[in-house]
Amino acid sequence: MLRDLTQIALVTGGNSGIGLETVRALVKKGAKVYIAARREGAAHEFIESLKADHKPGYGSAEFIALDLASFRSIENFVMEFKRREQQLDLLFNNAGLIIPGGDKQVTKEGYEVHFGVNALGVHYLTTLLIPLLQRSGKKNPNRPARVCFTSSIGHLAAPKCGFDPADPSSANVSFPILPGYMRAYANSKMANILYAKGFFNILLKTIIEPYLLYPAEFGCLSQLYANTSAEGEREGGQYFVPWARKGKTAKSAEDIEVQDRAGAWYDDQIAKHTRSIE
Ligand SMILES: NC(=O)c1ccc[n+]([C@@H]2O[C@H](COP(=O)([O-])OP(=O)(O)OC[C@H]3O[C@@H](n4cnc5c(N)ncnc54)[C@H](OP(=O)(O)O)[C@@H]3O)[C@@H](O)[C@H]2O)c1
Repeated sequence: MLRDLTQIALVTGGNSGIGLETVRALVKKGAKVYIAARREGAAHEFIESLKADHKPGYGSAEFIALDLASFRSIENFVMEFKRREQQLDLLFNNAGLIIPGGDKQVTKEGYEVHFGVNALGVHYLTTLLIPLLQRSGKKNPNRPARVCFTSSIGHLAAPKCGFDPADPSSANVSFPILPGYMRAYANSKMANILYAKGFFNILLKTIIEPYLLYPAEFGCLSQLYANTSAEGEREGGQYFVPWARKGKTAKSAEDIEVQDRAGAWYDDQIAKHTRSIE
């Protein structure tokens, strides 16, 4: 059972699947939820259905366009979010993609698309949102901001070393069972865990929420637990599996040296392409 949530939440990929069900649950508990994704039409259709279903005590949902495949789009998103809000209480890094055969596609900055969207884009977005998360923590020290990264059991198929800067999306790993796009997806989902763990060690109270399965109304349970339950407050840095149980990650995901190496590499890549929007 979720607590009342008169808080400000951001759900990336909130116009579809698990993200959509996450938004629905948050709105029912009074949250003001921002949906960030590319397809505006799908978001507005969903927002209209939430309005039609509105009841006293419910919160609301709004849309802001975000393409995690473009650093500029991420910056524009954050500028617009800051224009509307002073703080962010709950961040659900839920958006992610898997494109069969798509491992030759690249993001605006030229990174393989799974790694670029699911890992680097998420990393950059979260980094830019840190001041807003910290502001929430200062205003509500008894209920600090929470961040959840949606990974996947697929991360277990990432290379044993956890992260190789010379081959960030595992393009060159010979793993005959898996096609390239699945290796790239696995790697991007490993990156979510490495980043979440590193983020938790360095910065603030962070929960990661990994592998989920359809149906989406169940798939959303673990991340809702991680980011909104009273118990979840004491579980920072944990990996949860369906449904809302602590799970075990790949060994390399727990290695602080790998987490640091990956985090430093992501920061370097972002620095290469970005301007400050502070
Ligand atoms: N479903 C499962 O069984 C399962 C299992 C393990 C992990 N997961 C993880 O759970 C998360 C949600 O999965 P799902 O099954 O609910 O997926 P989904 O229905 O395909 O939804 C993906 C969401 O991500 C958004 N998105 C995709 N590319 C984007 C981009 N470049 N920029 C911004 N938003 C983008 C999409 O919105 P737009 O297209 O409008 O941008 C959509 O809302 C993903 O991270 C996935 O890896 C899912």
